[in-house]
Amino acid sequence: MNIEVLLTETEIADEMAESIAARDLPEKFFYWTPLSIQSWKALSARSEEALRETWEGLAAKAASLTGAFPGVVPVISFGAGEGLKDREVLKALKSAGKEAKYFPVDASQALLEMACAGAEDDDCEALGIKADISSPMHLMLAADVSEAPRLFMMVGNTLGGFDPLDQIKHVAACVHKGDILILDANIHAGAIEPSEEQKRFVFAPLAAHGVAPDDGALEFMAKPDDRLDGLHIITRRFQAARDLTIRAAGREMPLARGERILLNFRYLFTQEAFRWLLTEHAGLRIVAEILSGDGRFVTAVCIKA
Ligand SMILES: C[S@@+](CC[C@H](N)C(=O)[O-])C[C@H]1O[C@@H](n2cnc3c(N)ncnc32)[C@H](O)[C@@H]1O
Repeated sequence: MNIEVLLTETEIADEMAESIAARDLPEKFFYWTPLSIQSWKALSARSEEALRETWEGLAAKAASLTGAFPGVVPVISFGAGEGLKDREVLKALKSAGKEAKYFPVDASQALLEMACAGAEDDDCEALGIKADISSPMHLMLAADVSEAPRLFMMVGNTLGGFDPLDQIKHVAACVHKGDILILDANIHAGAIEPSEEQKRFVFAPLAAHGVAPDDGALEFMAKPDDRLDGLHIITRRFQAARDLTIRAAGREMPLARGERILLNFRYLFTQEAFRWLLTEHAGLRIVAEILSGDGRFVTAVCIKA
């Protein structure tokens, strides 16, 4: 198994400790420890089912979408996770007689290993890239692993884990003439009560650092983002119910009773807001759009405008 490393485990561990000290945990730490991976898999199993039709549809179109690609099709997935959706596309390309090379890009070593192993099980060559996709430099280096035309993917509402107004511009900057980008988003459908799986997923990075559920309370809050009509953010935070000490990367960090730690947020979109973001804001052109059967996900196939 080949994995190229732009972001080391030591850098992640140090950044995790700094983030705890700053009371603000970014998205990449929610897929880092074995407990987080386990909670993520339990959470994502639900949406995999709801998205089956979307991915069968996209897989059926994969060969024609990449019809003009000469030779091997490079499939570069930003925030690939386990790569389950990516594999649908890789398998469809293979059945259509097209050779593909898979480049999953992720900060999580464990998920990258699963994505590469899965593709290799399907006889597809894979090179994992361990990188921070919130860094425009890492995104560009990962994209440059192959020359255009390339098939980029950023799915599973990965975009919603970042500031979408900034992140989509960084991603769009990697898309050149001839490239294709498949990107999805969670649709805003009013207030939703967080499930037990969501709570476990959000709490997992703290649990992995010794915090117990009764050490405090989790709060989920949804509000519109005033910068764009139809853009909504769900923030999640933990408030300590007693004085705690969190240990990370050899450091001891006190968290006083009543103090809060911001956990990862999620952006949700109306279909109109998502379209505006891709086209007017990021300069892409949408060539196909698929709404999932349950109406909760929209997936867009884009090219450079
Ligand atoms: C919502 S999951 C989606 C995973 C997968 N694409 C799917 O559809 O199941 C987001 C993925 O992005 C990765 N990720 C989050 N923040 C990241 C960062 N800053 N750099 C690299 N990967 C990151 C996580 O490890 C995780 O695998």
